[in-house]
Amino acid sequence: HKPPAPLEPAVEPLSGPAPELFSWEFAADPYPAYAWLREHAPVHRTTLPSGVEAWLVTRYPDARQALADTRLSKNPVNHGRSSGRTGIPGERDADLMTHLLNIDPPDHTRLRRLVSKAFTPRTVATFEPRVREITDRLIDGFAANGSADLIHEFAFPLPIYAICDLLGVPAEDQDDFRDWAGMMLRHQKPGQPGVPRGGVGRAVKKIRGYLAELIHRKRADLGDDLISELIRASDHGEHLTENEAAAMAFILLFAGFETTVNLIGNGLYALLTHPEQRARLQSSLARGETALLATAVEELLRYDGPVELATWRYATTPLTLGDQEINTGDPVLVVLAAADRDPSRFDRPDLLDLTRRDNPHLGFGHGIHYCIGAPLARLEAQYALAALLRRLPDLTLAAEPADLRWRGGLIMRGLRQLPVNFS
Ligand code: HEM
Repeated sequence: HKPPAPLEPAVEPLSGPAPELFSWEFAADPYPAYAWLREHAPVHRTTLPSGVEAWLVTRYPDARQALADTRLSKNPVNHGRSSGRTGIPGERDADLMTHLLNIDPPDHTRLRRLVSKAFTPRTVATFEPRVREITDRLIDGFAANGSADLIHEFAFPLPIYAICDLLGVPAEDQDDFRDWAGMMLRHQKPGQPGVPRGGVGRAVKKIRGYLAELIHRKRADLGDDLISELIRASDHGEHLTENEAAAMAFILLFAGFETTVNLIGNGLYALLTHPEQRARLQSSLARGETALLATAVEELLRYDGPVELATWRYATTPLTLGDQEINTGDPVLVVLAAADRDPSRFDRPDLLDLTRRDNPHLGFGHGIHYCIGAPLARLEAQYALAALLRRLPDLTLAAEPADLRWRGGLIMRGLRQLPVNFS
């Protein structure tokens, strides 16, 4: 017998003219603005904080169509933007630009095939013991303290160590990596993340220099990590240049790091502010069940997913999206977070329902750029949430939700801190 889900009011769309996007208030709760856009301007031309004009797509059917539309290219350089504008750190560095999120077939097909082996559910399952070890070690670090900031002490380091292992970054270098990744996060401002300036630019430089050196070192001493695999592929006539290998390592780091930090952070926050849902998950874990954990992570991806907007796409030809005519070269930004709350696709979309089964969310994207790291992200999030709820069962939020600061942005959305208490 399944108890009825609690009634939760639907998010009220803002009233009046187009809401201000990309402010602190928007970062803290973008959903009323998204409800307004879905209702009044589902394909909406707006000026981004950088001054660039772009289209925002907020309804589920339009979003899904745009993500798979071959008339929308991912290549920023081919579309009249010689410096590129991608929202991804490293966009000013031509050598780092040739990664999966910036290219179209046939290059995309070739490069994606090379790394897809590393992300089959079977390969990723071999990571389980390591994810378990990292998670347990991180919890051991604060379990006796009675309080913690779960972003800095838990959600942030976990994916960094996992990606370092995946790439083959030696243990003694992983803390440097952790510091550089931290620089990328700290320097973001609302509406401006991804614009590499100051600290972000410096962090990108450090990571890039380190990766070039690591590729060089691995070439002399191949292992069973992903960078060694990429080198083997380039040595066996798979047409992978050294720059492409470095760009691949870089995008795996970028795409797999802050996303996972935010899935764990936003997910824990959603659980802590929905006690009935959290209690249900906790008792199912106590019974040794995992089915609810799996649907819970999918629902957390839908309800408040880490990726607010999919990365940039550009029209290669005039086309119609929703009721708007898009011109060649126009940037199109698909708002995954808005599409995943679209009442035309999801039953009671503003309700967090960990048992939700009909849940084709777009949190990992859709089409040929669908997140290649999804199996790893799921493994990390499921293990992280389960381990925390099991080991610290009386976890409570140590701040008023209104006092929490969000790291808002064009591509990702997540908490700056998540202070908690426990006994
Ligand atoms: C692509 C989300 C974790 C690697 C994407 C896209 C989304 C996404 C939405 C598509 C972007 C677009 O179409 O513009 C997420 C979320 C994650 C996560 C929500 C965690 C919760 C990871 C991890 C890795 C990873 C752990 C690898 C270690 C990638 C790569 C791509 C990608 C390489 C580009 C794929 C392509 O263009 O073919 N991700 N991601 N992601 N993701 Fe993830």
